[in-house]
Amino acid sequence: NLLNVEKEPVRVLVTGAAGQIGYAIVPMIARGVMLGPDQPVILHLLDIEPAAEALNGVKMELIDAAFPLLKGVIATTDPIEACMGVNIAVMVGGFPRKEGMERKDVMSKNVSIYKAQASALEKHAAEDCKVLVIANPANTNALILKEFAPSIPEKNITCLTRLDHNRALGQISESLDVQVSDVKNVIIWGNHSSTQYPDVNHATVQTSSGEKPVRELVSDDKWLNAEFITTVQQRGAAVIKARKLSSALSAASAACDHIRDWVLGTPEGTWVSMGVYSDGSYGIQPGLVYSFPVTCEKGKWSIVQGLKIDDFSRAKMDATAKELVEEKSLAYSCLN
Ligand code: NAD
Ligand code: LMR
Repeated sequence: NLLNVEKEPVRVLVTGAAGQIGYAIVPMIARGVMLGPDQPVILHLLDIEPAAEALNGVKMELIDAAFPLLKGVIATTDPIEACMGVNIAVMVGGFPRKEGMERKDVMSKNVSIYKAQASALEKHAAEDCKVLVIANPANTNALILKEFAPSIPEKNITCLTRLDHNRALGQISESLDVQVSDVKNVIIWGNHSSTQYPDVNHATVQTSSGEKPVRELVSDDKWLNAEFITTVQQRGAAVIKARKLSSALSAASAACDHIRDWVLGTPEGTWVSMGVYSDGSYGIQPGLVYSFPVTCEKGKWSIVQGLKIDDFSRAKMDATAKELVEEKSLAYSCLN
């Protein structure tokens, strides 16, 4: 029976797999949260030598969990072995931000890692490998990865701003006391940093009397134009303050959302936010990895075009682009 033929396993690389996000994301991937409940996977787990024993412990637990979709686990400290033949690369490895640090502060530690791993991916990953960079500074790490892996199509290299997108949905849902699944089409513009611009001008809520703009339902413009924005911008720091560790379960879940929508498509009429290489849309200069609203179909994303941008939004979109230009030059100065 053709319908019962099992799909070929997809090879998914997770770097930094012995860390917090790694520990949260590997069971999600092995349960089909990322690629669907009928898609077998082989996990490639990479970490560095000091974490080798812990990484092996993660492998032991994956075996012990007896996930039906999990067809193999490679746990290694060798980037070449880790990257060999991978179809999806989730780049979490790096040094996380601690309380009181800006994401920029972790720059020099992380950009050199991304330069090195760019070459391993370029040489050894599957030809169509899709890359998601999570480690901070996520946009700039993704840009460095792109620049040092010139043979990987630029459309295949992205960074995670879906966590910010989901945080924005969560804030609207809490404030209006509606189901989060009824809120859609917020936008995160720009950098995964405190300059990001969470934009609700096109967001809607499904109500019993149809779809309504968020701007119509939230009567308090002041909240939408100030507190909502800073809450989303500062949410990562707020979690660090509360947990003394950076977000992990929400980051892992957002990463699964990002890859699932990219590979399997976004629902009709819905867009999501992804950090992608700018093509000049909305006046954002090419040469930056910038978060845009995108729809996905058949494994390809495209930037949603033609949204009206008011002066308030324009200024905020430009400010976060400016920060990315500065980060880019800082990154290059760290590499030199
Ligand atoms: P963590 O410290 O718990 O784990 C990071 C892991 O990476 C560690 O096990 C470490 O040994 C490993 N590592 C370090 N250098 C490596 C290398 N060269 N190759 C492979 N592995 C390496 O940190 P975490 O909490 O899992 O966070 C990981 C990263 O994700 C951080 O940079 C954090 O700031 C970032 N983050 C981003 C988002 C986002 O939305 N984009 C959200 C949360 C966290
Ligand atoms: C987050 O947004 O939670 C992560 O980027 C961690 C951080 O440094 O804020």
